[in-house]
Amino acid sequence: MSKRFTLTAALPYTNGPIHIGHLAGVYVPADIYARYLRLQGHDVAFICGSDEHGVPITIKAKKEGISPQDVVDRYHKIIENSFKEFGISFDNYSRTSSKIHHETASDFFNTLHDKGAFLEETTDQLYDAEAQQFLADRFVLGTCPKCGFTESYGDQCEACGTSHNATDLIEPKSAISGNVPVLKSTKHWYLPLDQHQEFLQSWIGTEHKHDWKSNVYGQCMSWINDGLRPRAVTRDLDWGIPVPVEGADGKVLYVWFDAPIGYISSTKEWARANGKDWEPYWKDEETTLLHFIGKDNIVFHCIIFPAMLKAEGSYILPKNVPANEFLNLEGQKLSTSKNWAVWLPDYLKAFPDQQDVLRYVLTATAPETKDNDFTWKDFQARNNNELVAVYGNFINRVLVLTHKYYSGKVPQLKELTGADKDVLGELSTTPKEIQQSLERFRFREASQILMNLARSGNKYLADEEPWKVIKTNPERVQTIMYTALQIASGLSVLSEPFLPHTAEKLQKMLRLDPIPSWKDVRQGHTLLASGHCIGKPSLLFTKIEDPEIEEQLDLLKASKKSNAVKNTTAVQKTSIPFGDFSKMDLRVGTILTAKKMPKTKKLLVLEVDTGAEVRTIVSGIAEAYAPEAVVGKKVTVLCNLKPRDLRGVESQGMILMAKSDDGQLVFIQPDITHHTVSGVSIC
Ligand code: MF3
Ligand code: ZN
Repeated sequence: MSKRFTLTAALPYTNGPIHIGHLAGVYVPADIYARYLRLQGHDVAFICGSDEHGVPITIKAKKEGISPQDVVDRYHKIIENSFKEFGISFDNYSRTSSKIHHETASDFFNTLHDKGAFLEETTDQLYDAEAQQFLADRFVLGTCPKCGFTESYGDQCEACGTSHNATDLIEPKSAISGNVPVLKSTKHWYLPLDQHQEFLQSWIGTEHKHDWKSNVYGQCMSWINDGLRPRAVTRDLDWGIPVPVEGADGKVLYVWFDAPIGYISSTKEWARANGKDWEPYWKDEETTLLHFIGKDNIVFHCIIFPAMLKAEGSYILPKNVPANEFLNLEGQKLSTSKNWAVWLPDYLKAFPDQQDVLRYVLTATAPETKDNDFTWKDFQARNNNELVAVYGNFINRVLVLTHKYYSGKVPQLKELTGADKDVLGELSTTPKEIQQSLERFRFREASQILMNLARSGNKYLADEEPWKVIKTNPERVQTIMYTALQIASGLSVLSEPFLPHTAEKLQKMLRLDPIPSWKDVRQGHTLLASGHCIGKPSLLFTKIEDPEIEEQLDLLKASKKSNAVKNTTAVQKTSIPFGDFSKMDLRVGTILTAKKMPKTKKLLVLEVDTGAEVRTIVSGIAEAYAPEAVVGKKVTVLCNLKPRDLRGVESQGMILMAKSDDGQLVFIQPDITHHTVSGVSIC
């Protein structure tokens, strides 16, 4: 029976491209599920869009000196394109800066407001006096009151996943200036989660005890049992959806209030464009609502959003929230800020047209029950040993032999042997097995069941050896090839959720028209009739050689190195007025002599000609430079640094140095030929 499903995939923040972790944790499993349901003939709305509000976007805009809208316009396009490339088959991909979303979120807020579902409270909140800005969410860092992680954000700790109020942070620090915040009073609207505690306790605690994944259930119950508290759903920020009530000037909706409503607005947009009614997808009890997310989103999708939907009153609640754990990369946590990631646009540059390879590897190693590691070596091995050597090899043999022996025409089926029946039997039981795994959100297992079918096909050919039998019993070969062609066709159908590009290519090569259904495969129907002409074979997968993998590893290493440098330079000192800067007497000098300071490792004693005079400067560069290597070098000298006595030598200034990208200490070396330049102003 056809059923209605609303599937949502977490709306990605639009402050950067997406990486393999996002794909593995959220979008590939969601897409496999959506495609699988469609193949069953269900009515599916697969919904997503860009999450365009929130502090990370404002921070990025500030850093680049552009507007938040510019930031989201840029990344919305890039992200949407990555999804298309990887075959993520959303029915609608919207964005939260759209008019329809602003209206939907405002209406939702108003409905709750009118119902008296919020508390309105004026309280003291963290404020950066220098930046003149309230410090919520990612504008503030501090120690998590639950797990002690020292870099927790104001609204959520990335280490333990807990969501809290910014004022709960221990030793908070402004992410804008590094200052210790002061308290300033401000009014906000709060969702009283404590009032929903009982409902959540029974809805999750009792109703979903057995059907939710244990990682999801466990996290939810731990929060509920800790006791839920009111959470502010508005913020003092200038980027976001204005709070649509009187007396809320300069306030916007909290990003985690508006973003999940984005699922609803995206559904509306889709329905409008397709002449459908959006409401049954969100309000009919017969509809199955599923949220695909990563584990850091659990609290918002299992507690806060359901509380909002329940308070509104006319919406259904999710049947399941199959959240995944995290994917690591080469043994380390994926990190956007540390650039420790494989970004999808970069992957496509390195491996164009190999989207399915990444989909397959990420599914086969998905972080379903625990964090998992992506390594380039494993990527290569799964491509070469599974996709190329098993799946691709089987298909290629079948198609090439069919052309060789029968000019591409599917031969007659003669008598079936036990081996033929076994492999055909496996073909017809595979759909059910895949189905059972997918319905329990076990995508890894499902992908392996699929690969095992290809493996059986490959083994069948190796055992039956049609290339030998053709010489002695050509009639038998007809049955072998007929059987193998059925397996190939079945594989093309069952692969579609996992390897959509490959399935399409294979179906074209087999000239399957119409394409058999999932049910046809399950019921053991003939998938490719005798006499049907197949098309020319071409390779589905190609071997990935060592140098290609080494290149990726080198790229990662390089990004690690430049990070090490970035991290040491990232420490921001507080700003100084120009007057302070202009007090410095910076000059260009030439090193005339250099010798090691006895009994020290680090110090060189230099004589530097600054044009006006020759100065003695003691510099801590001996570990990076031998004395003879620095003589004659042009350097920048801070001349009016108070003289200091170092090991009995008076140092009359300081040589300015920098760290290069690879961590080397280098001179700030002016490219001029004459040394008598003075008062260099660098601004
Ligand atoms: N932007 C969030 C993230 O990347 C996810 C938002 S999901 C939604 O973690 F429900 F709010 F839409
Ligand atoms: Zn924590």
